[in-house]
Amino acid sequence: WVLMVTAQTPTNIAVIKYWGKRDDSTLILPVNDSISVTLDPNHLCTTNTVAVSPIFQQDRMWLNANEISLSGGRFQSCLREIRSHACDVEDKKKGIKITKEDWSKLYLHIASYNNFPTAAGLASSAAGFACLVYALGKLMNVKEDESQLSAIARQGSGSACRSLYGGFVKWVMGKEENGSDSLAVQLADEKHWDDLVIVIAVVSSRQKETSSTSGMRETVETSLLLQHRAKEVVPKRILQMEQAIRNRDFPSFSRLTCADSNQFHAVCLDTSPPIFYMNDTSHRIISIVEKWNRSEEAPQVAYTFDAGPNAVLIARDRKAAALLIQRLLYYFPPSSDDLNSYIIGDNSIA
Ligand code: DP6
Repeated sequence: WVLMVTAQTPTNIAVIKYWGKRDDSTLILPVNDSISVTLDPNHLCTTNTVAVSPIFQQDRMWLNANEISLSGGRFQSCLREIRSHACDVEDKKKGIKITKEDWSKLYLHIASYNNFPTAAGLASSAAGFACLVYALGKLMNVKEDESQLSAIARQGSGSACRSLYGGFVKWVMGKEENGSDSLAVQLADEKHWDDLVIVIAVVSSRQKETSSTSGMRETVETSLLLQHRAKEVVPKRILQMEQAIRNRDFPSFSRLTCADSNQFHAVCLDTSPPIFYMNDTSHRIISIVEKWNRSEEAPQVAYTFDAGPNAVLIARDRKAAALLIQRLLYYFPPSSDDLNSYIIGDNSIA
């Protein structure tokens, strides 16, 4: 017999960034809280099918049909944790009965598929680990809720914990050394602010040179600005951002999102040796948006950049999104090599 579960999880984009771990443990515990929006599953998402069968000889995983190694510590942490929460499963029709104890002796096969280029620097690990943990949780009849599952996904990749929920999500850094209180909570669901439209301008689909994991390690070791950011700036910004989301206050949301992206990249520059994630095209996009926002009575678009040059642009409504695309096409005509493509999330927060 084979028992299977399929799940789909979208990626998320942080508007108040996570950057820096507070220790070297494999638990992945951040130096500050962060807030993200989860994208529409039709756009950037991972689909995972997880299967268990007594004939499987070892845990195996395929990503977009190519087998990948499961030997990494992060995969092992997630698999170990989720197995430790597994419960009895019974499928009377198929005559299958798996007890809690059986799970440690049974092997898993995992088929994972991204509907976007994996190496495009578009937060594939966030959707990937969230989906893995969620699908395994369903297969193994794990009783923990999304928040508790998020603490397991966190051990795969920090930002993954925020993809267990739709809408606006906060990753609460927590205080406990064992990480039990470092988990995601939903601030507002996907219907709360559905005017927003996310446009991702793909500046480069090359894999980033400095991974988030090693980049943030170097920042923690060398940047003084990070201490100031984590202790003085982010705690206040988190409260202001929660209020902006609650009130659907786009001017405040936009101001905080852009400022936090810029400070995150400033902290990268303050790292020794400095880390450059944005390039000239990213900087041009910032100038275009800043100039446009200033020429209007109220901001139309917010920008944010993760650990790469691609721009995530959040338009206040569909009209602003249409005007944004028009502007981008004007500054980066299809013949230009600077922008590869746009991924447009219609009604994108889900
Ligand atoms: C810039 O979650 O990829 O996207 O925990 O080491 O796997 P690890 O890092 P990761 O870092 C994401 C950093 C970011 C900001 C964010 O998503 O909050």
